[in-house]
Amino acid sequence: MSAKQPVLQIGPHLLPNNLFVAPMAGVTDRPFRQLCKRMGAGYAVSEMVTSRKDLWSSLKTSRRANHEGEAGPIAVQIAGTDAAMMAEATRYNIERGAQIIDINMGCPAKKVCNKWAGSALMQDEALALEIIEAVVEAAAAHGVPVSLKMRTGWCASEKNALRLSLAAEGAGVAMVTVHGRTREQGYKGEAEYATVAAVKAALRIPVVANGDIDSPQKARDVLALTGADAVMIGRAAQGRPWIFAETAHFLATGEQLPAPTVTQARDWLVEHLHDHYSLYGELTGMRTARKHIGWAVADLPGGEAFRQEMNLLESSAAQVKALQAWFDTLGASYQRLPYLAKLPEARTIAPHEYKQ
Ligand SMILES: Cc1cc2nc3c(=O)[nH]c(=O)nc-3n(C[C@H](O)[C@H](O)[C@H](O)COP(=O)(O)O)c2cc1C
Repeated sequence: MSAKQPVLQIGPHLLPNNLFVAPMAGVTDRPFRQLCKRMGAGYAVSEMVTSRKDLWSSLKTSRRANHEGEAGPIAVQIAGTDAAMMAEATRYNIERGAQIIDINMGCPAKKVCNKWAGSALMQDEALALEIIEAVVEAAAAHGVPVSLKMRTGWCASEKNALRLSLAAEGAGVAMVTVHGRTREQGYKGEAEYATVAAVKAALRIPVVANGDIDSPQKARDVLALTGADAVMIGRAAQGRPWIFAETAHFLATGEQLPAPTVTQARDWLVEHLHDHYSLYGELTGMRTARKHIGWAVADLPGGEAFRQEMNLLESSAAQVKALQAWFDTLGASYQRLPYLAKLPEARTIAPHEYKQ
């Protein structure tokens, strides 16, 4: 990559580039984050960790808090509705290796203590600010910066991202990410970037643009349109983590990288699968790997038929063998991944509520 790459800093952490992987519960676990970082992402945030202490010892939360071997900085996202609990969650995650704490006000999270967490907090600015202040104070004691992920607002008539992000900056937040949709929109419609641009124009801290960025060209356009310091890519990285290298190359040179070779993609995916099984174990690993395999083959010729067959396999060894054989057959006809033009449904599905 050329020297054109902008340098971005969150607190004391210098990032290698301004291309971020979005936190996605059930997707951006440690193996997937590591894969994205290897494929050119400059920064990745963990799946959200609940502020409910009674769930911290659960297998799910302990897997989410596992950062073994992950390239730094380690950023952990927390979700909750109570300032004291969020401060405690901050300390807990810092003790377990978090170097940056991200507050989730951007995604429809489950209820915590009978209140909706995540983007619902944007409706109650006083509570949102109370939480931000408590988390910043708890993190500052350890020299750890805090970032905030939000939507443009609660609904079309209540777009308060600008007010809330200014208050967050005033409270000591080090970076803000804005997904260009309101909470009410879910994932419907298209992301708008005017609100992101307004937030960027008003803040001194780094601002990250997020929503519907699915190609290097779109990343360039969103950066230009918003003036944002970085872009965050979520769904488009599913099954296509090399989008980060493709985007970095395009931003640096204006040229489009050719798709990876079939052999490269096969080897990266197999390596990802082994890493995935080692985190989740055989049974859970084999089941949860299916979605990653499905995404990886989704817009390749014959991918849908393979996905259906592969879903019937019941062991990790059989999955790896089938994947290798499928890519080897593809490789007999094509040197590079022959993407079909249309993006598959699988890539655009967005659940309205994610489990904590
Ligand atoms: C499956 C899935 C899980 C998600 N989980 C989270 C999450 O845990 N925390 C969060 O802040 N956002 C979450 N999001 C929202 C993404 O971080 C991102 O803001 C959104 O997908 C828009 O970006 P995109 O168009 O590039 O996908 C999730 C999105 C998806 C599709």
